[in-house]
Amino acid sequence: MLTGKKILLGITGGIAAYKIPFLIRLLIKEGVSVKVVMTKEACNFVTPLTLSALSQNPVSIEPFNSTDGTWHSHIELGSWADAFVIAPLTANTIAKMATGITDSLLLATYLAARCPVFYAPSMDVDMYHHITTQLNINTLQSQGNILIAPHAGELASGLTGMGRLEEPQNIVEILRTFFSKQQSLCGKTVVISSGPTIEPIDPVRYISNHSTGKMGNAIALEAAARGAKVILVSGPVSEYPQHPSIQIVKVTSANEMYNNCIELFANADIAIMAAAVADYIPVSTETEKIKKKDTDLVLQLTKTKDILAELGKLKQAHQYLVGFALETNNELDNAILKLHTKNLDFIVLNSLKDPGAGFGHNTNKISIISKDHSVTEFALKSKKEAAVDIFDAISKNIV
Ligand code: CTP
Repeated sequence: MLTGKKILLGITGGIAAYKIPFLIRLLIKEGVSVKVVMTKEACNFVTPLTLSALSQNPVSIEPFNSTDGTWHSHIELGSWADAFVIAPLTANTIAKMATGITDSLLLATYLAARCPVFYAPSMDVDMYHHITTQLNINTLQSQGNILIAPHAGELASGLTGMGRLEEPQNIVEILRTFFSKQQSLCGKTVVISSGPTIEPIDPVRYISNHSTGKMGNAIALEAAARGAKVILVSGPVSEYPQHPSIQIVKVTSANEMYNNCIELFANADIAIMAAAVADYIPVSTETEKIKKKDTDLVLQLTKTKDILAELGKLKQAHQYLVGFALETNNELDNAILKLHTKNLDFIVLNSLKDPGAGFGHNTNKISIISKDHSVTEFALKSKKEAAVDIFDAISKNIV
């Protein structure tokens, strides 16, 4: 999976830079082409000569070398690479990456890179746990960069705690897994419903729910990262995912979402319905604002069509259908009932009882329930990581 790949290594000024020559050796043995861009501070920890000898390529440090007149283009470096791996990454450079500062060739290359970016924070324990560093790490992750999390253990300072750089052989393994997954949905079309629906009562009021679309967006990004063509049918949300393989169909009402999903399902290989669709909508929408009266107001609602259940009826043998169940009580029984009545391949259960799960959070705690009622429970994790678990489960079942 790694042979022939082009990996740009970014090195910043941390003591763990001593591990990078080993990483380069391992990558070269795998048949990877390696180039290095490093900050001036990193040169205090590992020499450019060592890195250039091992990578068999010149090392880029500054945009312009006044002694030999060479120009290192950040654009060229960024577009050359299949992946940019920044390790070790100091708190200082993390902060600059999170705010778009480009006062080094490495930072300019980061902003210009079109390829996936892996970042491996490594520093002393207190710097790592500082709220600013944590916020910056989260910012980078929310922007689609892939975190290679540090480990706890003995640090160069003599302190013990979080901040050790991942071992080179594990970084190679992370890259291997990434590239193998990147191909896994090539040629597949994935249709995803996401977000809330909005059902107008009159020109001023509406019925909706708390869905923010974060889970659906994470699912769309993961499908795209695995090479799929993605169509995201999304109700109104404040943020939409950005990826060249994601087409976004913006809808407002449950009926609009139904029409689009039914039409798109005909050409889908995988459909994942993550939207919080209104089950009941006003029988009619008033054209003028409803005026306040002395009596109570009765709003008559009518049932919507269940999109997922309809897809379950239309499903062909080659198609894979996944639903969500958001429950507040009798979680497992309710989810199993939905799995069967809607003819799903599996259902993702999230309970509003779990702290950190459900609407608005960046995290989720899911369980995947298969047709044979086997339940795989996952820990509370980011919605991005939950999306990885969902596609890993799908990948086990489709060719
Ligand atoms: N769903 C759908 N169309 C609807 C209602 C729900 O496609 N009109 C899908 C959701 O996107 C989700 C699954 O059905 O994948 C379950 O949704 P949920 O709200 O948990 O359950 P409901 O089936 O609506 O049942 P209830 O509200 O009674 O729990």
